[in-house]
Amino acid sequence: MTQRNAPTVFILDFGAQYSQLIARRVRESGVYCEIVPHDAPWSALSARDPAALILSGGPESALVDDAPDMDEAILESGVPIFGICYGMQLLAREIGAELVKLDHAEYGPASLIVGNRDTPLFDGVPDESRIWMSHGDSVVRLPEGYVALASTARCHVAAMGNLKKKIYATQFHPEVVHTQHGKAILANFLHEIAGLGDDWKMENFVERATAEIREKVGSAKVICALSGGVDSAVAATLVSRAIGEQLTCIFVDHGLLRKGEADQVVAAFRDILHLNVVAVDARKRFLKKLRGIEDPEKKRIVIGHEFIRVFEEEAERVKGAKFLVQGTLYPDVIESKTPESKAGHKIKSHHNVGGLPKKMKFKLVEPLRALFKDEVRELGRVLGLPEGIVRRQPFPGPGLAVRIIGDITEDRLQIVRDADAIVREEIDAAPLDPHPWQYFAVLTPVKSVGVMGDGRTYANLVAVRAITSEDGMTADWARLPHELMERISSRIVNEVQGVNRVAYDITTKPPATVEWE
Ligand code: XMP
Repeated sequence: MTQRNAPTVFILDFGAQYSQLIARRVRESGVYCEIVPHDAPWSALSARDPAALILSGGPESALVDDAPDMDEAILESGVPIFGICYGMQLLAREIGAELVKLDHAEYGPASLIVGNRDTPLFDGVPDESRIWMSHGDSVVRLPEGYVALASTARCHVAAMGNLKKKIYATQFHPEVVHTQHGKAILANFLHEIAGLGDDWKMENFVERATAEIREKVGSAKVICALSGGVDSAVAATLVSRAIGEQLTCIFVDHGLLRKGEADQVVAAFRDILHLNVVAVDARKRFLKKLRGIEDPEKKRIVIGHEFIRVFEEEAERVKGAKFLVQGTLYPDVIESKTPESKAGHKIKSHHNVGGLPKKMKFKLVEPLRALFKDEVRELGRVLGLPEGIVRRQPFPGPGLAVRIIGDITEDRLQIVRDADAIVREEIDAAPLDPHPWQYFAVLTPVKSVGVMGDGRTYANLVAVRAITSEDGMTADWARLPHELMERISSRIVNEVQGVNRVAYDITTKPPATVEWE
């Protein structure tokens, strides 16, 4: 399904972790784009009349024999091209530039010096700025027609271009937030060099996605896995926009939700969004399955499996149900990649991606798979969802199960649920700028000695985590005012039975993850 009337940029994916991030930046610049495999034949691409091509980075070296390649006709197509990292090295190889393996690979921040302003690529970018590098090979000599545009202390050709052919490349990553003016560089390529407008909007995503959903599911009945979070709310609304009554939403109350959430979710979906909702009380069932399981991965897998089983049972009642909608986002996709995959390593089995039984009866519909969290929120607004749902902070599918370290019991659920409600209430009421992206309580397996009244206590340690983030991929701990932390701590200790100590988590991601499990 294509967006025929919007100029399309294709991103040739050479296996980079960051391909989707490039896509996001292109969308942010108001240009429609699609990611395609690196070896997509030019004949297929040209049939779609591409407005520009971007070659992504990738984990391989362009110097090895079987390095991932692209159709050589692309280089002569006359379409503006932008290569990033591996994309630049591949271009270098194809145009006959000299490429060498560095003695020491260059990772992380570097200072970019712009050396040539005959092109608009660096318009608005100061002569010196911070960029993000990640490479083991480097271009050392360019053939005729190509010029070096910028350098760093360790990389003489950090950007290159053939101004006449509109072929450009950067050794650094303009798509990551650590590259200070990366967004401007990509926007300059798209607007000033490729001459593209900036009028593509999330509304167009709705048109495209609903058309794709209709085409995929035909007249079949569709079931939606409602989790209570913003992702499934947006996915369900988008799918219902596409196929209306064919969609039945199933909300499983697994007992691992936050305080009051199960009721709120059902009310919001039925009364505000007017979706077709079946609510299933599966609290006992999940608790029984989780009994005695302490390993985080096992918890995730058990919950994922049980979820699908409940859906399968409910689906029996929805005659003709063939598809299951899930609100999988891009960070879930890359963080759940298996170790065998080239681009990423498995960190957690997100229950909405991994852990699905092999024989699952449904085909998946994942309309948010290409989006980041804040894009999903924007999409929710475009779809007219209430702000309360759109602004809901991210909450993992396995819910409070991954915020209880160790055994999950009804008592321990009660503790983490009550503590979480206090953390949310206090932070929601505080005028913080930036407002933390996510904030919650974790019940640790640690007990410690305390004194309350005149008596000794030996009770639980609750950790509070509050982070700032843009997309959940990286995170910093929120610098909460001390008075706020004090209020949270004293309220938890006083109001939550079984807690006598509170700690604040000051770890960034990486090296930690957002959730403790
Ligand atoms: P981590 O803990 O992996 O979390 O740094 C990154 C973001 O993802 C959320 N998260 C999940 N979301 N299913 C989800 O849909 C899951 O299983 C899951 N586990 C973590 C987490 O809350 C954070 O926002």
